[in-house]
Amino acid sequence: MSLILAIESSCDEMAMAVLKDERTFLSSVIASQIDVHAMYGGVVPEIASRKHVECVSIVLKEVLEKANIAIEDIDAVAVTKGPGLVGSLHIGLQVAKTISLAFDKPLIGVHHIAGHIYANNFEKEMIYPHMSLVVSGGHSELVLIKAPFQFEIVGMTLDDAVGEAYDKVGRVLQLPYPGGPVIDKMAASAIPTYDLPNPLNDGSYNFSFSGLKSAVINLHHNATQRGEVLNKEELAASFQKVVLTTLINKTMAACQEFGVKEISIAGGVSANRGLRKAMQEAVDRREGLSLSLPPMSCCTDNAMMIALAAKQMYDNNVFSSIDLSVRPNLNLEDETIGGNDNG
Ligand code: KG4
Ligand code: ZN
Repeated sequence: MSLILAIESSCDEMAMAVLKDERTFLSSVIASQIDVHAMYGGVVPEIASRKHVECVSIVLKEVLEKANIAIEDIDAVAVTKGPGLVGSLHIGLQVAKTISLAFDKPLIGVHHIAGHIYANNFEKEMIYPHMSLVVSGGHSELVLIKAPFQFEIVGMTLDDAVGEAYDKVGRVLQLPYPGGPVIDKMAASAIPTYDLPNPLNDGSYNFSFSGLKSAVINLHHNATQRGEVLNKEELAASFQKVVLTTLINKTMAACQEFGVKEISIAGGVSANRGLRKAMQEAVDRREGLSLSLPPMSCCTDNAMMIALAAKQMYDNNVFSSIDLSVRPNLNLEDETIGGNDNG
């Protein structure tokens, strides 16, 4: 039996979870600060790290109590080492290192995106060769995973991440923060009537969303100047339609080229109901291909996903040294087990 305590604090959530063996969670706690940052229309890094300091001991106490274990019972402590906000990452890392030193437990530094990808191990083992469409507030990538924990980035964003584009469009349309879930909801009940440009239709697996975002913003500004009122629901639906078409077409093309057996969606935007449905329909049309989706509770930042990625590392004896430091700009490919940098 193994018990892994995982800590995630890369942005504005302080989250902890206890994983028993492959996929049994004894507890999971998330202290979100979203209400505080909503007042500013985005995450304020300084406030995020201060709030983490305030709540970290409370979250630790709660996650252990809910799991009904003592800290001595754990076999390893896992923590997000990057990428993310440096001040936020520091709080989680210092707690993990303190536990590791004080209770003589192995330390596992986890890449945040490896966590998002392995959230797809929540219900069953991922199938390889695998393609993960990573879509979060800071990342948009197509990651080919030929075998467990072997990461190859075959496409990436050249500018804005998908979640970032959603949130910026949300801000212009004066929607509550974060805009992503709100736009998803509005899009579900409206018809896409506005004509928006197709981003980066160049045959590559790279993404570019800043042109699309600017098109929405310009449309809105021009209408406002002319005193016209736009239909926000229809604009949300038009924006979402272009985003989903691009994401799905590129993912399907990449899967064809690399002989992939299973696709997953990872990161906060994997909670998008329109994306989940449209990707399922595309996969159903392709024989020999399946789709893995993280449960809704595991889409946006949480510590269960960090524990699931850490489990892969634990089973392969990949541990970090106690001088581990936070890495705000960590490269996912360097995390490949058997690669050159699992520090
Ligand atoms: O993975 P995550 O929690 O944080 C990062 O690692 O970035 O992702 C947060 C992002 C935000 O941009 C948020 O707007 C977006 O995920 N998001 C969504 C939905 N739910 C969250 N975007 C579109 N549709 C959703 N339903
Ligand atoms: Zn994330």
